[in-house]
Amino acid sequence: MKVLIACEESQEVCKSFRAKGHEAYSCDVLPCSGGHPEWHIQDDVLNHLDGWDLIIAHPPCTYLSRAGCRWLYPNHILNEERYKKGLEAKEFFLKLLNAPCNKIVVENPHPQKIYDLPKESQIIHPWQFGHKFKKATHLWIKGLPLLMASGIVTPEYYIDKKGIRHTKLNGWSAKKKSKTFPGIAKAMAEQWGRVKNTENISND
Ligand SMILES: C[S@@+](CC[C@H](N)C(=O)[O-])C[C@H]1O[C@@H](n2cnc3c(N)ncnc32)[C@H](O)[C@@H]1O
Repeated sequence: MKVLIACEESQEVCKSFRAKGHEAYSCDVLPCSGGHPEWHIQDDVLNHLDGWDLIIAHPPCTYLSRAGCRWLYPNHILNEERYKKGLEAKEFFLKLLNAPCNKIVVENPHPQKIYDLPKESQIIHPWQFGHKFKKATHLWIKGLPLLMASGIVTPEYYIDKKGIRHTKLNGWSAKKKSKTFPGIAKAMAEQWGRVKNTENISND
């Protein structure tokens, strides 16, 4: 299969599909950090949406995610500039979700209600794929089955400097947090890489 991993510089998902024999490419405006520049398209992904059998996209979530809500309403007043950036991020998200391809997955955290994104197909966590963390990841899936858990583990607590218990990724940099967990990338390649080009599955 020809696979595009849109908005991916780590190449985690790209490399998992390559390991399964697919012709996969990552695409990001940044250079890749995954060690395979020959599989990386460094450009605006909107210039590269044609001709793929499968697209998996990880668009930026800074302005869309519910975690950014406090910046959208500082002192309970809508920050118009930030709202406009959120609308632009929504437009980008929808261009990826509506790309000319039968099999598409878009990944993002829980979005803010105000942007009225379509309903996600499923919500996954790293602890379902062998990593001891909670991080709700929403998937919008077209033409493919839902992603099945590949190795359920119990999320581990850790105690921060203030003595607070966490299972989440507190303390990780935004960049580190945004990288796809290897267990999830592997499950995507194993499960979605098996779906035949001619199959078109609906989750509705
Ligand atoms: C939330 S991060 C996803 C990171 C990804 N999960 C990974 O493991 O590399 C969003 C990524 O989208 C990239 N990006 C933003 N706008 C883009 C565009 N127009 N075309 C391609 N990539 C873009 C950013 O540089 C960033 O790496």
